[in-house]
Amino acid sequence: MIIYNEETRLFHLSSRTFSYILGVREGRLLTLYYGNPLPEETDLSYLAASYYSGSSFEQLEQNLPLEIPSVGTGWYGDPAVQAIGPDGNNITKLRFADYKILPHKEPLKGLPSVGVGSCKLENDETLEILLKDDLTGLQAILSYTVLQMQDGEMNALARSMRLVNGGQNELILTHMASAGFSLPSRRFDLLHLRGAWARERQIVRTPIGQGAIRIQSQRGASGHEENPFIALLAPETTEDSGPVYGLSLIYSGSFLAEAQVSPFDNTYVSIGLNPMTHQWHLQSGESFQCPEAVLVYSSKGLNRMSQTYHVLYRDHLCQSEWARKERPILINNWEATYFNFDERKLLSLAKKASSLGIELLVLDDGWFGVRNDDKRSLGDWYVNPEKLPHGLSGIAKKVNELGMKFGLWVEPEMISPDSDLYRSHPDWCLHAPGRSRTEGRNQLILDLSRKEVQDYLIRVLTGVFSSANISYVKWDMNRNMTESFSAGLPAHLQMETQHRYILGLYRVLREITEAFPQILFESCSGGGGRFDPGMLYFMPQTWTSDDSDAVERLKIQYGTSLVYPSSAMGAHVSAVPNHQVGRITSMNMRSDVAIGGNFGFELDLDKLSEKDLETARSYVNKLKDLRSLTARGVFTRLCSPFETNYTAWQFVDEKRVLLCFYRILAEPNPIPHRVYLKGLDPHKSYQVDEADASSLPPSLRQVFTGAALMEAGIPMIWDQSGDFVSRTIVFHQV
Ligand code: GLA
Repeated sequence: MIIYNEETRLFHLSSRTFSYILGVREGRLLTLYYGNPLPEETDLSYLAASYYSGSSFEQLEQNLPLEIPSVGTGWYGDPAVQAIGPDGNNITKLRFADYKILPHKEPLKGLPSVGVGSCKLENDETLEILLKDDLTGLQAILSYTVLQMQDGEMNALARSMRLVNGGQNELILTHMASAGFSLPSRRFDLLHLRGAWARERQIVRTPIGQGAIRIQSQRGASGHEENPFIALLAPETTEDSGPVYGLSLIYSGSFLAEAQVSPFDNTYVSIGLNPMTHQWHLQSGESFQCPEAVLVYSSKGLNRMSQTYHVLYRDHLCQSEWARKERPILINNWEATYFNFDERKLLSLAKKASSLGIELLVLDDGWFGVRNDDKRSLGDWYVNPEKLPHGLSGIAKKVNELGMKFGLWVEPEMISPDSDLYRSHPDWCLHAPGRSRTEGRNQLILDLSRKEVQDYLIRVLTGVFSSANISYVKWDMNRNMTESFSAGLPAHLQMETQHRYILGLYRVLREITEAFPQILFESCSGGGGRFDPGMLYFMPQTWTSDDSDAVERLKIQYGTSLVYPSSAMGAHVSAVPNHQVGRITSMNMRSDVAIGGNFGFELDLDKLSEKDLETARSYVNKLKDLRSLTARGVFTRLCSPFETNYTAWQFVDEKRVLLCFYRILAEPNPIPHRVYLKGLDPHKSYQVDEADASSLPPSLRQVFTGAALMEAGIPMIWDQSGDFVSRTIVFHQV
């Protein structure tokens, strides 16, 4: 619901779970309130007045709860908007001019967003507020949509900004945040998802104080190192109680998320494009669309915030018909063979996989050009006849005959210096004149800011994907940008290259995913280096990490679940000793961890013992039964690997509960650690599934009430000794 009160000049955006109130005072747009829902008619105009204390400094903006701070009139922090005007100065004075309430949320031009197209939500009224700088003619159009889900039980606020040059002269935009707001306290913790290759999205929570903390990527991708997401939490907030303010950006390139605490007890938090890597020249009459940000407020701790993002990003973001379909159980040949395979080996893998009930064979890197290592051939997307004498269509057909689907890996955004493509188009990569071209994994990046490069990719990929019966594509991207300049742009526009690249990438993704709606696309970037809602708009799942070790995966998947649903995470059982860390874990433990995402395998089945093959077969069967629950059930974190020797999480739907519990290191004389389930109906009864009952101590083979499982908990008694053990239990509601 969106209300504007002419008298008080307050905007009230409300839902059953939050209120967001904006005020206008002396032309400035102020965040007066964001938190628990308030009655519609609540008049907070006294707050707008109270910031103007009567001191002689009141003209300065430093102590105001600004919504979109700009530059030069007393805000001394980093601005949300800055434009350099025709006279060379950066003063940007945005003042309230007008507003409209539109009946629907509109898609953003060239950029992904939630609740549009096939994901449209009901009641998506949208508030647009127009701010203007009268001198330069710059206009900022701020857009707000309350996204209501699950009958109003879960809600989010979609925000974006469009900058329009309503003046006569060129403006150079140097700061273009998507969303920001002020909160009247400095006592917050900041939570973010930090990492690196093979250890993505580790949860970090730090108290913040006066000053600025910046969470960012300048890599031209959202990156392994930080995710485009932050949350502000009260110091006492836990998984299940206390206030949380989440901000997530629907963008796949460089970003900046920032919390700034002023000396006047104001916390300003924002998210958007990174000013270090993005500038834009706006001619008279032109507009610039900033990416969309999604704000989620929870008064009930982190789990509730995550569950809201899960529903939003699972059901209301991805345009593909696959977003809402069950995903096939796959086997990927990467860790099974690396580059060393041929048709015979792949078919042997497929044969065994099919006998276990696996549904899809994915052919990873190495099928094209002369790619027998990672030093060459990216760009040469034609089959290597030595490895695949019958081409892609030949192997796909044989895999199909085994009753399985066939999938393919590509890394389209890349070009190897040793490739036919590079030899014919040496200027098609990102590079800067006079500078050497920095390679990463022996490769350069194609300049997707150029239309001819986009067109070429669309043409080549259309050819590859039409050449065989391909049901799945893994779209990889294995390095970050250096020399992010374009041979296709004049000198003064070079700082636009990174954003133009992302717009070009989105165009290619849109055209390709629309042309092949039957293909399930999974994005990847050296594992989880581009795990963001921008990619999830086009592709419903992402390879979570190149680290497939079961123990490492507990943290990675737990951290990822802060924002992203399990239906977005690829999770595979791999070989032991694990290829990334050398750890040996049981087939059960590896499988129980992979249950937490889109389940698959990534190992050489020919090397498995009969016992492990049997375990694999039983998990495939189990997953076919459970995958509707793990993909669509309510996911709740119970016990954190970042804080304890245990990890636990649960999935709940109308009929069943799946409890997953992991102990990392063995303990002498162990305490029967209790797990307390959450979100069940206290009055309903839950019976342990027959198949799981046999492995439990007799005292646990019974019917529990929801109240008992939640309040008294269930003791985890282990019959296994040793490190790295797991247990999953299904309860049926009776
Ligand atoms: C990246 C991916 C891996 C694999 C390799 C192939 O690292 O994350 O899963 O596809 O590339 O080169």
